[in-house]
Amino acid sequence: MRLSRYFLPVLKETPAEAQIASHRLMLRAGMIKQASAGIYSWLPLGYKVLRNIERIVHEEQARAGHIAMLMPTLQSADLWRESGRYDAYGPEMLRIRDRHERDLLFGPTNEELITDIFRGHVSSYRELPLTLYHIQWKFRDEIRPRFGVMRGREFYMKDGYSFDLDREGALHAYNRHFVSYLRTFERMGLQAIPMQAESGPIGGDTTHEFLVLADTGESEVFYDAAVTDIRMGARDIAYDDRAACQAVVDEFTALYARTDDTHEDAVFEAEVPEDRRRRGRGIEVGQIFYFGTKYSDPMGASVTDPEGHRVPVHMGSHGIGVSRLVGALIEAFHDEAGITWPEGVTPFHCGIVNLRQGDAATDAACEGLYAALAAKGLEPLYDDTEERAGAKFATMDLIGLPWRITVGPRGLKAGKVELTSRRTGESEELSPESAADRIAQIYGV
Ligand SMILES: Nc1ncnc2c1ncn2[C@@H]1O[C@H](COP(=O)(O)OP(=O)(O)OP(=O)(O)O)[C@@H](O)[C@H]1O
Ligand SMILES: [Mg+2]
Repeated sequence: MRLSRYFLPVLKETPAEAQIASHRLMLRAGMIKQASAGIYSWLPLGYKVLRNIERIVHEEQARAGHIAMLMPTLQSADLWRESGRYDAYGPEMLRIRDRHERDLLFGPTNEELITDIFRGHVSSYRELPLTLYHIQWKFRDEIRPRFGVMRGREFYMKDGYSFDLDREGALHAYNRHFVSYLRTFERMGLQAIPMQAESGPIGGDTTHEFLVLADTGESEVFYDAAVTDIRMGARDIAYDDRAACQAVVDEFTALYARTDDTHEDAVFEAEVPEDRRRRGRGIEVGQIFYFGTKYSDPMGASVTDPEGHRVPVHMGSHGIGVSRLVGALIEAFHDEAGITWPEGVTPFHCGIVNLRQGDAATDAACEGLYAALAAKGLEPLYDDTEERAGAKFATMDLIGLPWRITVGPRGLKAGKVELTSRRTGESEELSPESAADRIAQIYGV
């Protein structure tokens, strides 16, 4: 992409309404524009990051054997009356009436709709286990939308629903999600700590939330400092292997980590040595639930078991806040000058800054680099505008691409361009070919 042809409406001024870094930087970097309270348009740069996160979520769900589909945003109120949640959900649910006076709602979550799909098509234990998920816009009429996409009213969520014959099967589905979420967040460069949590309106008693530690997070958390040392890392996992999944869950849940809803001082003090006790804040980026037959019972979603009896299926639901993650990532990765994207989610692989637009040799070198990177399947953002060098650097720092290649007439005389890391600020002089090779090597292409 050439900046002269892109749509990147960066703001010079710091928007007054933004209280936290991620909101401020998303507005300044031209990633989002508020449409109304808690509802945002995703401008091209923000949309690219959103899609990168979505792609990682899809890839890790596929790896875990979960199946993608797409359900609508609007749902019939009748289904929610069946589960009893139409009245129970409260003012967070946006209720709509169509021209035929039928009650609809903008889905805040999808347990009812997926249970209806399941009961219409599945009738035998032989078709289990089954996990279906989608990534779709949700609406919750939050009383206090704030912090930009972190607490929106309309937000983009991955929600998955697992169906199993019995509790053991359902707990394995729970564990599969647990492991796949750890992998998902780590691939984005994030550490999200699984914590014992409370279930809220979804219901159920077995639940973990995944939290990214951040002072600006809305949840209060209590944990053993040693949990922050545990990583999935490069280990692979056989998702059908119940013991292997359970072992990972056991490893990540052995140490104390709870949100304030489930925190108990006495247990905290008994289990955690004083010097490792931490109290802080976190951003909830995912949550998994096992809730048994809470929906399958009232809605009649049952299967025949091997003995021929009809039994209600055991279900779980498992969510990731895809749009909230964009904000959470920026909270974790920014400095005074702007965003510092990790390679896993960056909107462009690198920037190319032309220090003298219009100079034949400099233009040609930039074009050559651009073509070389594109030929490797990489997507650079080439600043081919007439701006001064200082302004170009400021924009690149603001939008936070992890790598920048600077091309100027002086360096080129010696056959060199400059490769700079956004995170460390360190620069290196290289030939244009080596710079392109280096970028390719970083991204493993
Ligand atoms: N208003 C919102 N704006 C953006 N993302 C959200 C919002 N509400 C929930 N999410 C994201 O969707 C994920 C799954 O939804 P879930 O039903 O668990 O939310 P929740 O527990 O009600 O969230 P919260 O406690 O933050 O209100 C959450 O972990 C969170 O990352
Ligand atoms: Mg939650």
